[in-house]
Amino acid sequence: MPLLITNARVVTASDDYTADVYCEGETITRIASGISPVSCATGTEVIDAKGKFLFPGFIDPHVHIYLPFMGTYAKDTWETASRAALVGGTTTLIEMICPGKGDQPLEAFELWLGKAQGVSACDFSFHMGVSRWDDLAEAQLREIVSRGVRSFKVFLAYKGALGVDDRELYHALKLAKELGVVVTAHCENETLIAEKQAELLAAGHKEPKWHELSRPVAVEASGVAHLMAFAEQTGAEVYIVHTSCEEAVRAAQAGISRGVRAHIETVIPYLTLDSSYAERDGDNGFEGAKYVMSPPIRAKRHQDFLWDALRARTVETVATDHAPFDYKSQKTMGKPPESDFTKIPNGIPSVENRVDLLYTYGVTTGRIDLHTFVDAASTRAARIFGLRGKGTIAVGADADLVIYDPECRGKISAKTHHMATDYNGWEGWELKGRSSVVTVRGKVMARDGKFVGEMGHGQMVVRG
Ligand code: URP
Ligand code: ZN
Ligand code: ZN
Repeated sequence: MPLLITNARVVTASDDYTADVYCEGETITRIASGISPVSCATGTEVIDAKGKFLFPGFIDPHVHIYLPFMGTYAKDTWETASRAALVGGTTTLIEMICPGKGDQPLEAFELWLGKAQGVSACDFSFHMGVSRWDDLAEAQLREIVSRGVRSFKVFLAYKGALGVDDRELYHALKLAKELGVVVTAHCENETLIAEKQAELLAAGHKEPKWHELSRPVAVEASGVAHLMAFAEQTGAEVYIVHTSCEEAVRAAQAGISRGVRAHIETVIPYLTLDSSYAERDGDNGFEGAKYVMSPPIRAKRHQDFLWDALRARTVETVATDHAPFDYKSQKTMGKPPESDFTKIPNGIPSVENRVDLLYTYGVTTGRIDLHTFVDAASTRAARIFGLRGKGTIAVGADADLVIYDPECRGKISAKTHHMATDYNGWEGWELKGRSSVVTVRGKVMARDGKFVGEMGHGQMVVRG
């Protein structure tokens, strides 16, 4: 059904104006003031957006939905995750395909694609994980890129499971350079982590609060510096995922100042939570497990640094790294019969809450302006990853739109969220603002906190 949004305050990464926006089929076809409903097709739905913002659909460039990891599987399916994303204003997800060490890329690609296609309610794409290097893997990676998946993912941590060694890293970067695709990278020094974990456990430090000490900022900064050296030698364009601390940002900047083409992502947990959450000692010292992710959430000073770097657009994107594990049935893998923080599945569910948390704790507090908000949560990811038609409001663009109500007040709770997990890391947090209407290619998918769309409406975005 055609859609006419009237009196909207249209805010993009660069513009801010009031207009009416008309969408026919899957695209925006007219932007002007005073578009008369009479001039629109019969059956057009008219939505008055007076007093509300109109943002481009938000894009989360780093999520895990199907994820075999640390002896279990992430809890969401594409059904639950895409619904949650849409209710929270996110219209496109880029999922990490994470093949195990022995897996061939094409088989992994088909497996991950099969989980999303025909199921997802929102649009989607993938970063293709590289976990091995041989002639067959290289040929298959070329084929996957030719099918529109124009980015790779490498883990410098989790060696033996998902991670690459330096030879594999080098060849993945060389191929990426040749094909003109971006390599996203989880940067931590695996050897340092393994040694520190062993020392802490040997000293009897087993509760979740020790997770951060096993992966201090130097471990992350060393991973980033390592990636920068390899990117410099190969000329590949890289994207550092989930950057948590000042030292890691500075290591990336050092590479950039030498001419490395690198982008820096942070994720919503690092902007809003600090290490005191992982130190929570409820539930006999185990409650902090809810906040175990890697890299770990850090001391408060890093949060302030990251907000400043975001404002300066040194940090370019804010994703979630949505990695949903239940507290009671999964995080407790690190509990019985006695705690072992190295066995707690790493990750925090957040795909539903990123946009509202960034708006409430970033825009309404004055830490970032509206353009930075839209850029970091939508436009920049569309540009870096070649999501044509996404990330902006313009004639000819996809009608992925968010009418956002800045007056809405609410609270986050696992009792009402749409994610599949039994807890929410921001339980009870106040929100100032909410997506009022969310569309994907012209179809209304969510209204005022409720999913009203159709499962399977989402399509894979073939990237150019
Ligand atoms: O703790 C995290 N980040 N879990 C998800 C896997 C990853 O490293 O991105
Ligand atoms: Zn990671
Ligand atoms: Zn991740």
